[in-house]
Amino acid sequence: MTTSATAALTSHGATIPVLGFGTSPMTGGFSAEVVVAALKAGYRHIDTARKYGTERAVGEAMRASGVPRGDIFLTTKVSHENLRPADFARSVDESLAALKVDYVDLLMVHWPNPDIPLAEAIAALAKAKRQGLARHIGVANFNIALLDQAISLCTEPLAALQAEYHPYLDQTKLLAAARRHDLAFVAYCPLGRGRLFNDPVLSNIAKTHGRSIAQVALRWLVQQGVAAIPYSSNPQRIADNFNVFDFTLSDNEMARIAALRRVDGRIANPVERVPGGWD
Ligand SMILES: NC(=O)c1ccc[n+]([C@@H]2O[C@H](COP(=O)([O-])OP(=O)(O)OC[C@H]3O[C@@H](n4cnc5c(N)ncnc54)[C@H](OP(=O)(O)O)[C@@H]3O)[C@@H](O)[C@H]2O)c1
Repeated sequence: MTTSATAALTSHGATIPVLGFGTSPMTGGFSAEVVVAALKAGYRHIDTARKYGTERAVGEAMRASGVPRGDIFLTTKVSHENLRPADFARSVDESLAALKVDYVDLLMVHWPNPDIPLAEAIAALAKAKRQGLARHIGVANFNIALLDQAISLCTEPLAALQAEYHPYLDQTKLLAAARRHDLAFVAYCPLGRGRLFNDPVLSNIAKTHGRSIAQVALRWLVQQGVAAIPYSSNPQRIADNFNVFDFTLSDNEMARIAALRRVDGRIANPVERVPGGWD
């Protein structure tokens, strides 16, 4: 049986555990102990970024947990200000030093930047992979046109696209584009940063299954073949969020949740950083 610990997406040689643990401090209460709790609960995919300021604590937690480095799929990202080649290389070096690791499993461009040619950023990304600093590479917050450009510019395969995705945000077109390119889709803010928790439809479906709304929202994503990286600072919720592989949503339930999409559902929205806008 597929369990939370073994479920993974494969893409261009990468094996990405379907449930990862987010470490952005934006939702509060972050510490190395929280990441240790996630690793103890079974998460083997940790998402950080240079911008979050959490890399040092993530590295500490990985060492303190006793989980072998090779068992953890570790992602970090280079911020949009640092996409010129020299800045990019420096940012990667700083990430590896803060994490105290020799490589990351996935290195991503965190956001596009209309003021820096995409070709420069993508060349720097590919170089980090060739140098062995990243096992796999990907992009976050790219729209479909940028994703197509990135793939045609990149001399190495892109393994993953990370983007906001939860029941209040329609990502049908972006998900189809990722699939066309055989990229793993990693959903951030999978719990809508807490906005989902009073939703009557989700609440009704959760009651039917004897589950929490968070578990239903995460199940809805993984049942679509999408990876998700929820954050929680609470050890009980961290463990509960990881427990979504022993129930199945019906087609009708999947469709009812998809119908919750809203035009104003996007949470992380500095659209000025995305050349051409989101669509
Ligand atoms: N690439 C990007 O640009 C980007 C942007 C945003 C986020 N991300 C990544 O995605 C990760 C997740 O996104 P996020 O942290 O913004 O939001 P999220 O995971 O959607 O939501 C986190 C919030 O939900 C609460 N929560 C978690 N589990 C819960 C449960 N079972 N019951 C009730 N409340 C629960 C947490 O509060 P408690 O702590 O109180 O449980 C926290 O406030 C980030 O940490 C980061 O790694 C990437």
